[in-house]
Amino acid sequence: METKFWPVDPVNPGPEVIAAAAGIIQAGGLVAFPTETVYGLGANGLDARAVEKIFAAKGRPSDNPLILHIADMGDVFQLSSQVPLQAQVLMETFWPGPLTIVLPKRDFIPVAVTAGLPTVAIRMPNHPVALELIKKAGVPIAAPSANRSGYPSPTTARHVQDDLAGRIEAILDGGPADVGLESTVLDLTGDLPVILRPGGVTKEQLSELLGAVDIDPGLSDSGLIPRAPGMKYTHYAPKARVILLKDNGPETAKRLDGLLAENAALGRKVGLLLTAEFLAKLGDVQVDHICNLGSRRDLAGIASLLYSRLRYCDQLGLDLILTETYEEKGLGRALMNRLLKSSGYTILE
Ligand code: TXA
Ligand code: MG
Repeated sequence: METKFWPVDPVNPGPEVIAAAAGIIQAGGLVAFPTETVYGLGANGLDARAVEKIFAAKGRPSDNPLILHIADMGDVFQLSSQVPLQAQVLMETFWPGPLTIVLPKRDFIPVAVTAGLPTVAIRMPNHPVALELIKKAGVPIAAPSANRSGYPSPTTARHVQDDLAGRIEAILDGGPADVGLESTVLDLTGDLPVILRPGGVTKEQLSELLGAVDIDPGLSDSGLIPRAPGMKYTHYAPKARVILLKDNGPETAKRLDGLLAENAALGRKVGLLLTAEFLAKLGDVQVDHICNLGSRRDLAGIASLLYSRLRYCDQLGLDLILTETYEEKGLGRALMNRLLKSSGYTILE
């Protein structure tokens, strides 16, 4: 299959290109499109056969459910049999935006979307192209991140092309995604709201509105199975090995020197993905690639760069990526969740 590559104005998407993409969705095909978090791979969320094509194109395990994307808040009531007041408050506050809510599903939603769970994940994305596409298609769009399963999510149309060219009908290129990390997934089916995946909306923001909010213990305890099926897989991982460095003052620079010497002796190509503050503490280091992620105080800036920088390290053919840890609060929680997974939980203290 030849994948069409269509540039689109991210602010005022042209009606022709939206109509063409919506036509593909209605006909049961796959279209990748920009959202404010990462690029999504969309199919008609009410068409089981179309949804199955998503799993085939990505190489995604079939027990990992998909998010249904809507363009009108009211559509939540059509997809879920039970929308608690909390959900409505959240929708009013954070939609359109990087928050996905998990609610009891209605029977007509295909089993392929929910992977057989009694619940469905729903999100209204904050991107004109995504919203126009959903409206024009006239159906909820099922969309995971548009990457090959296990690889870092795509934040540009070019990333999607690298992963999925020849496997999907079209890619809408609306420029780089803004947030750069996936949405927060929040389960609202229990007594307390539970974060199943930290993301663009922080625990602090949710607690301010809802009071107590739990975090799925399966996210930090490797002995437990996470409740979002997607969180149990190897994920967000480039081909290069990733090791996280915890900044412990002058000791850290010494440790890093040792690690670099060791890897140079083995002929390995090494890259550093570090903040400006961390880089400032290093002396002259001999590595194959150095990327400055910006200031530690700008976690949003770091989040928006992370995946594309990890992908770039693979393009350079690096064997090892050394990057740093963040304090687990605010957006730092989502950053650490992704970094821990991409490194296979390897931290050098
Ligand atoms: O920002 C995002 O959320 C992006 C953009 C495209 O919207 N989408 C995305 O989808 O990241 P995906 O499929 O890569 O991740 C969805 C996550 C997975 O971890 C999945 O297991 C979980 O949400 N999930 C989906 N439905 C669920 C459900 N009913 N119960 C629990 N977890 C669910
Ligand atoms: Mg994904």
